[in-house]
Amino acid sequence: MTEPTLQIEDVTKIYRVSAGAFKGKRALKAVNGVSLKVPKGSVLGLVGESGCGKTTVAKMVLGLEKMTGGEIYIAGKSMSSISPKDIARRIQPVFQDPYSSLNPRKSIARIISLPIRALGLAGSRTEWEAKVDEVMEVVGLPPRLKHNYPNQLSGGQRQRVAVARALIMRPEVVLCDEPTSALDVSVQAQILNLLLNLRRELNLTYVIITHDLAVVEHMATRVAVMYLGRIVEEADTAALFKRPRHPYTQALLASVLIPDPTLGLPETHLGVAYPNPIDPPAGCTFHPRCPRADQKCAAVAPHPVVESDRLVECHYPD
Ligand SMILES: Nc1ncnc2c1ncn2[C@@H]1O[C@H](COP(=O)(O)OP(=O)(O)OP(=O)(O)O)[C@@H](O)[C@H]1O
Ligand SMILES: [Mg+2]
Repeated sequence: MTEPTLQIEDVTKIYRVSAGAFKGKRALKAVNGVSLKVPKGSVLGLVGESGCGKTTVAKMVLGLEKMTGGEIYIAGKSMSSISPKDIARRIQPVFQDPYSSLNPRKSIARIISLPIRALGLAGSRTEWEAKVDEVMEVVGLPPRLKHNYPNQLSGGQRQRVAVARALIMRPEVVLCDEPTSALDVSVQAQILNLLLNLRRELNLTYVIITHDLAVVEHMATRVAVMYLGRIVEEADTAALFKRPRHPYTQALLASVLIPDPTLGLPETHLGVAYPNPIDPPAGCTFHPRCPRADQKCAAVAPHPVVESDRLVECHYPD
C-alpha cells in the first residue's frame, strides 16, 4: 500500500493565553489529538464551528506553527525531517479573503511568482515570467492582467491569483482555508469548479477547510467534523451526508437547510453557546449542547470508534 500523501498523527497544539489580569497564563488546547489521513488525489473537507481549531491544523501542516505533540508525515516522511523549502514545494496554501492576502503594491506577476522567487527556484526573469504566463492560463486569468495591481481585479480574479500563486510551486497538496467565503455566491461556484478541474488535470490532493457544508458536499471525497480541537466524526462524503451519526454532525447538517449562505455560520439550534476552549466541559466536550447526553456523557470522555470506514466519537452514536 502506498503512503498517504499527508498523514496527521495524534497532533496537539496548546497555546499559552492570558486568562485576565493577575491570573497569569493558562493552557488553551486548540487542537487535541487529531489524526487524519489524506490519500493522493483525494479531497478532505475539514468542517466545524469558528474556533474549533481548523486553521491551527492548517498552520501546523504548512509548517507555520509548531506542534505541541504528535507528528505529521508527508508521503511517509516525518515533517520534522523535511526542510521548510521542501514542505513549501509539496504543500501550498490558498487562504481566505483575496482582498487582504495579496500585497496591494505588487504587480500580479510579482505576486504569483513570489513563492518561487523567495525560495530561489525562479531562474532568470524571462524564465519566471514564462512560468507566470503558464500558470495564469491554467487558472483562467487573462495575460493582460499580469502588470496590473490587486485593486484593479475583481474578487474572483484575485482568488484566481491566489490559486496561481499556490500552483506555480507545482505542489502535490493544496490546502485551502475558507477559499471562497469572502466571494459572491456566483463567483464561489466558479472558483470551486476551477479547483475541481485543476485537481483532475494536475493530479492534486486537497484539504479544504470551510464552514460551508454545501462546499464540502460539492468538493470533498471525505469529511472530518471537528469540535473543540477533536475530530468527532469522519467518513466518506456520501456516507456522512446520507447518515450522520454524531449528534453534532446531525445538528450541522440540519442547519444547512438555511437557504442564505451569506448568513455565515450555520445555526446549529443547539441552544447553549460554544464552550470556551480554556475551560472545556468535562466528559464529552459536546455534552452541554447535546440532545442525547446523560450522566455518562457529562463524566466520561468518549473514545473514537471506527466502524465500516467511519470514525465516531460518541457514547451514543445514532
Ligand atoms: N496564536 C494564538 N494564540 C492563542 N490562541 C490561539 C492562537 N491561534 C488560535 N488560537 C485559539 O485556538 C482556537 C482555534 O483557533 P483556529 O483559528 O484554529 O479556529 P478555526 O476553526 O480556524 O476558526 P474559524 O472558523 O473562525 O477560522 C481558538 O480558540 C483560538 O482563539
Ligand atoms: Mg480559521
